Amino acid sequence: MRRKIVAANWKMNKTVSEALEFVDELKSSIRETEEAELVICPPFTALYPVSRAIEGTCLKLGAQDVYYQEKGAFTGEISPLMLEDLNCAYAIVGHSERRGYFKETDIEVNKKLRALLDHGIRPIVCVGETLEQREAGQTEELVTRQVEIAFDGVGQNDVTSVVIAYEPIWAIGTGRSATGEDANRVIGLIRRTLGKIYSDEIAKNVRIQYGGSVTPDNIAEFSRQPEIDGALVGGASLKASSFLAIARG
Ligand code: PGA
Repeated sequence: MRRKIVAANWKMNKTVSEALEFVDELKSSIRETEEAELVICPPFTALYPVSRAIEGTCLKLGAQDVYYQEKGAFTGEISPLMLEDLNCAYAIVGHSERRGYFKETDIEVNKKLRALLDHGIRPIVCVGETLEQREAGQTEELVTRQVEIAFDGVGQNDVTSVVIAYEPIWAIGTGRSATGEDANRVIGLIRRTLGKIYSDEIAKNVRIQYGGSVTPDNIAEFSRQPEIDGALVGGASLKASSFLAIARG
C-alpha cells in the first residue's frame, strides 16, 4: 500500500515568524497519526526554525531545491549535506519554476536527485508539460522523457525513496487544475514508464502526486483516483487550515 503524501510548497513566501505561526496552528490541529504523510517545504531561511518547531510531531521537513555538490565555491547554493544537517526528510527538485525561470535542465535535475539519495533525503521530483506542449499532443512523450532522465543511474533499491509530482505547468497557480481523470491518466503513464525502466513491482510502490491549483474544494477529485498518491500544494498550502483540509481530503 502506498501512503498518501501531501506536501506544502511555500515557494518564496513567509518570514521566519510567519512560518512559525503556521506550524503552531498546524500542530494544534493535527493528530499524532495522520493518514497522509505531511511535508512542509519552507524557503531556505525558515528551514532551521521550522525543523526545530516540528520536532516530536508527525510533520516532515522538505527543502524546495538543492545543489548537487556537497560543498565548495558555489556562491548562493545549498548542499544536500546542509539539508541533512537540518533533518530535511525531503527536497523538491525540478519544479517547473526552477526549470522555467532558472533554466534548470533534465540533466541537472538528475544530478540533484542522485545527490539527495546519496544523503538519505527523499527527492520529490516534478515533471509536467506546458499548455503549448499539451495542445501539440506532446504530453506523454515529454513526461516520459523527463522521468527517464530524472531516474538515469538510480539503482532499483532507491526508486521507492523518490516521490514524483506530476504538475502540468498550465495548472500551477492558475486556478485551472487538471481533471482528476486526466491527471490519473498521465500518472498511470508515469508508473508504466517506471515499470519499463525497473519492474512493475517497483513501479507499483512509487508514490506519485498531482500538483497544480489543488484546493480543499477540488482535492476529492484527485484523492479518488487510483494512481494518485496525494498532492504537492502551492497557494493553498500557505494557510494551515486549508493545507490540513487538503491533507485530509
Ligand atoms: P499551486 O502550486 O498549488 O499554487 O498551483 C503548485 C506547485 O507549484 O507545486
